[in-house]
Amino acid sequence: MSSRHVILGVTASIALHRGLDITSALRKMGDRVSVVMTPHATKLISPVTFQAMSLEVVYHDMWALAESMDHDHIRMAQTGDALLVAPATAGTIGKLAHGIADNILVTTALAFSGPCCFAPAMNWRMWKNPVVQKNCKILQDLGWHMIAPATGDLACGEQGPGRLADVCDIMDALKLATP
Ligand SMILES: Cc1cc2nc3c(=O)[nH]c(=O)nc-3n(C[C@H](O)[C@H](O)[C@H](O)COP(=O)(O)O)c2cc1C
Repeated sequence: MSSRHVILGVTASIALHRGLDITSALRKMGDRVSVVMTPHATKLISPVTFQAMSLEVVYHDMWALAESMDHDHIRMAQTGDALLVAPATAGTIGKLAHGIADNILVTTALAFSGPCCFAPAMNWRMWKNPVVQKNCKILQDLGWHMIAPATGDLACGEQGPGRLADVCDIMDALKLATP
């Protein structure tokens, strides 16, 4: 059993429901999981669902936290053992690559200095777009570990690369990043 404190960032991908499987897999391994959602992700799945799965407060609204003088997410960025962004949208990958800290996930990531992994998930045309590839490379050059997407059936009905990696592959990659 591991006992890491994993910060799990989840974004507004159609694969977001698999973030629940990741939360569950991490908890089964004995990890503490703090979920940080982008505001767009909360339009696809309620934070309450991630809260029920992680048994922890879910952070998603930077301004609500500011009003309540709650700086726990910054504390969390100082004490977490690993940051995993899965699924990672093209939009969040771009923001992380360029330090665009306009939501709580990117803000937390910028304040975090431990091992970082991201698992892209998107339509194959988006995945193949040079700007997405460039942003993934920027993150990798900055030390982020990329868990490459799989090739297969995509939610849009097409086939190709861009499918979120299997949960077991994500768990293995995280283990390697946080020995
Ligand atoms: C139903 C739905 C599914 C989406 N799935 C994806 C996806 O899998 N990957 C992606 O990069 N963008 C996807 N998008 C677009 C993102 O939600 C959009 O770019 C959003 O601004 C990303 O916000 P975030 O990265 O801050 O969560 C989807 C949008 C919708 C409405």
